[in-house]
Amino acid sequence: MSLNIELLEQSFGKIKPHAEEFVASFYNNLFLVHPEVKPMFAETNMAKQQKQLLAALVFVINNLRKPEALGKTLEEMGARHAVYGTLPKHYPAVGAALLTTFEQYLQSDWTPAVKQAWTDAFEAITTLMLQGAAKLSPESEVL
Ligand code: HEM
Repeated sequence: MSLNIELLEQSFGKIKPHAEEFVASFYNNLFLVHPEVKPMFAETNMAKQQKQLLAALVFVINNLRKPEALGKTLEEMGARHAVYGTLPKHYPAVGAALLTTFEQYLQSDWTPAVKQAWTDAFEAITTLMLQGAAKLSPESEVL
């Protein structure tokens, strides 16, 4: 899949000045629409978690032109997520919450092309993370 790198970089650049609020809003959106995933974060330090999610997003954006680096890191992250109990069915919930949060922050800059760019990017991230999870435990592919 070819990602719209320019549009991803440009739109993420507009989020960056509000990045901490952005990731906090992401978890609010996720838990509002999918309260069933909240127990997975029962023991989690959410301030730290927000920073880690932000770091992961920054890493993805900074490495869009280095797919080898991106692939390795995201596969490893996906394997760790399998250990946290994350199932393939949870990814669409996270993707939808991410898109909603982008829409809220980008407002009139949330154009159909930007939406498509982030939909494709999330799909690529999910594929790599689930590949990593499947390598760790082949059964996780069918869950
Ligand atoms: C785009 C997809 C995702 C990204 C970029 C992402 C990012 C992260 C990062 C950076 C961490 C910190 C620990 C680590 O790196 O292993 C983490 C932890 C975690 N994530 Fe995700 N995640 C994603 C999808 C999901 C999904 C779909 C779920 C399930 C609802 C989930 C649940 C968790 C949980 C339970 C933790 C552990 C929290 C703890 O340490 O207590 N994540 N995630």
